[in-house]
Amino acid sequence: MKRFLIINGPNLNLLGKREPDIYGSTTFEGYLEKLRAAYPSCDIAYFQSNIEGELIDRIHEVGFDYDGIILNAGAYTHTSIALHDAIKAVTTPVVEVHISNVHAREPFRHHSMIAAACKGVIAGFGMDSYRLALEALVAIDNC
Ligand code: DQA
Repeated sequence: MKRFLIINGPNLNLLGKREPDIYGSTTFEGYLEKLRAAYPSCDIAYFQSNIEGELIDRIHEVGFDYDGIILNAGAYTHTSIALHDAIKAVTTPVVEVHISNVHAREPFRHHSMIAAACKGVIAGFGMDSYRLALEALVAIDNC
């Protein structure tokens, strides 16, 4: 069974309550249950933290064994050279994900510090951005 890890960064523990006009009204746990049911042949682990170092530790822990990491680094996307370096340090492909279309929002969200270290980027499809990233990772070996 292929193993994937979804990592959500700061403030994403509040999905469902946080700015629902931008991020929707579904909790991540509710979404994850449906995603797991739709991909019974994938082992989908989940980790959320508001602390930059904990995100980095988790990338190190799985980044040589798992088949893919789906990373929504939240606001650290726009600031974190440390996350960029962590993604570069591991061998597991990482897909950068955003629920909102960051390029249609404030200018400070237009630049990603991590995109260049990632396999690819998916943004703007609501929660479905995570499924699209999973599809892309599943397809890597099947091509
Ligand atoms: C986000 C976009 C970021 O700019 C923001 O800081 C977030 C969420 C998204 O999923 O759309 O926390 O990563």
